[in-house]
Amino acid sequence: MTLDFYDSRQKKGPRVRARKAVIPAAGLGTRFLPATKAQPKEMLPLLDKPAIQYVVEEAAGAGLDDVLLVTGRGKRALEDHFDHAVELERQLAAAGKEDLLAAVQAVSRLVHTHYVRQGQPLGLGHAVGCARRHVGDEPFAVLLGDDLIGEEEGLLTQMVDICEETDRSVIAVMEFPDEDLGKYGVVAGETDADDPSVLHVSDMVEKPGKANAPSNLCIIGRYVLTPDIFDHIAATRPGRGGEIQLTDAMKAQAREEPIRAVKFSGVRYDIGSKQDYLRATVELASRRSDLGPEFREFLIDFTKNLPQQ
Ligand code: G1P
Repeated sequence: MTLDFYDSRQKKGPRVRARKAVIPAAGLGTRFLPATKAQPKEMLPLLDKPAIQYVVEEAAGAGLDDVLLVTGRGKRALEDHFDHAVELERQLAAAGKEDLLAAVQAVSRLVHTHYVRQGQPLGLGHAVGCARRHVGDEPFAVLLGDDLIGEEEGLLTQMVDICEETDRSVIAVMEFPDEDLGKYGVVAGETDADDPSVLHVSDMVEKPGKANAPSNLCIIGRYVLTPDIFDHIAATRPGRGGEIQLTDAMKAQAREEPIRAVKFSGVRYDIGSKQDYLRATVELASRRSDLGPEFREFLIDFTKNLPQQ
């Protein structure tokens, strides 16, 4: 009889649930220049919140209350955003603006935020490697700020659950058309016998393009990784684009024993793209109870009168 919480069948260590999230936020945001010349791309607003806040709220919603932002030069605004703003709070309180005060205070109380600087832009794998000291020897999530995924989808929670159950890294994949296979990491794997939405991934390749892609299943910006990923990152040589790719480190991990992928079919926006940024803004606005009713009326009117081009 086993007296502890080891799963002897699988010969795995104790099951540990991820509670930390890492958000790489050192990128230059060139796709949105000149808006990002003097402010981080993560601070671009979607309605009345900066983009990064949605991502941090998603982490908090999945029970990840310790968030490490991997930043770089020119990213001070991120630290200020998640910090207390004593002066502002005092002014709002004095003016009786309780709603705004609550909104401002809620941001600094969302999660415990920590910061580490990447120093050199050596790639996503390198950025995640910078989190090693903070994360230590436990599973953790990685959320890419360009990917906006509705918290109500429950994707991250599902991934945290699977990582805890299997003690394997978990990624999220979506089906994309052939022309997009040069923009993403692409995976190869077999469907889980019990759950058709889960894959056992044995191989993956970073931005292969149609000719070399093993499937149409592309990695989107949510990962829950077991801590052995750090050794794999340390052993990963520069790959595509001369950068240390997270995909290459996960591929090494998957070759030891397949990792898991969740096939996601919900709504996801790449807000680093202007088209998706617009779509996300419109969708968020039309769903909001304070803005939605009036905005939807405008949209209906606007599309009725939209000239054909
Ligand atoms: C990164 C990853 C890629 C993944 C993508 C998801 O690429 O390297 O594997 O598919 O994020 O958005 P990036 O968009 O940073 O070039």
